[in-house]
Amino acid sequence: MAFELNILVGTMTGIAQLVAQEIELRLDGEGLRVNTLEMDELKPDVFDRDGIFLICTSTYGQGDVPDNAKDLYDALCAQKPGLSHLSYGVIGLGDRTYAETFCFGGKRFDKILTELGAQRIGEMMLHDASSGTLPEDDASEWIEPWVALCHQHLGGAAEPQAAQS
Ligand SMILES: Cc1cc2nc3c(=O)[nH]c(=O)nc-3n(C[C@H](O)[C@H](O)[C@H](O)COP(=O)(O)O)c2cc1C
Repeated sequence: MAFELNILVGTMTGIAQLVAQEIELRLDGEGLRVNTLEMDELKPDVFDRDGIFLICTSTYGQGDVPDNAKDLYDALCAQKPGLSHLSYGVIGLGDRTYAETFCFGGKRFDKILTELGAQRIGEMMLHDASSGTLPEDDASEWIEPWVALCHQHLGGAAEPQAAQS
């Protein structure tokens, strides 16, 4: 089943943007429509769009979301819109040198979206900048199994209920 994938990018120096671009390339020809949106200026009503969402964000300060993600994150926390219709995944970029706040940008979004009733598909991909791997390479491997989980999720949701005997 084809679906739209909306990638929301929170970034300070552009690495999360590179990751989103790599995912777009990787999924080209897979029959999905991929929309990549920088989080700047986005409001919680972005989640009214059709499709599945992929939050792709780094971490700054002391475990904060990046500056361009702050307004959206703060608005979700303050307005608390009901998001029970929403299915999402998370790619968190961070660095284990920041042991206490590793990938908190992605983890913060995961926490608030869950609290608002949204359902995460699969495990988060958490990238450690001190690991020696490139996040776009890791994401390129992670994305296909994750998209398969999305298909399962949508297929399962569309399946008719088994008849009660
Ligand atoms: C000033 C600064 C603070 C950071 N704080 C954290 C942090 O608290 N936790 C974490 O996991 N990574 C932290 N990082 C690492 C970044 O999240 C990581 O390098 C990421 O890949 C940057 O991606 P971006 O270019 O998309 O913003 C920090 C990096 C810098 C430069």
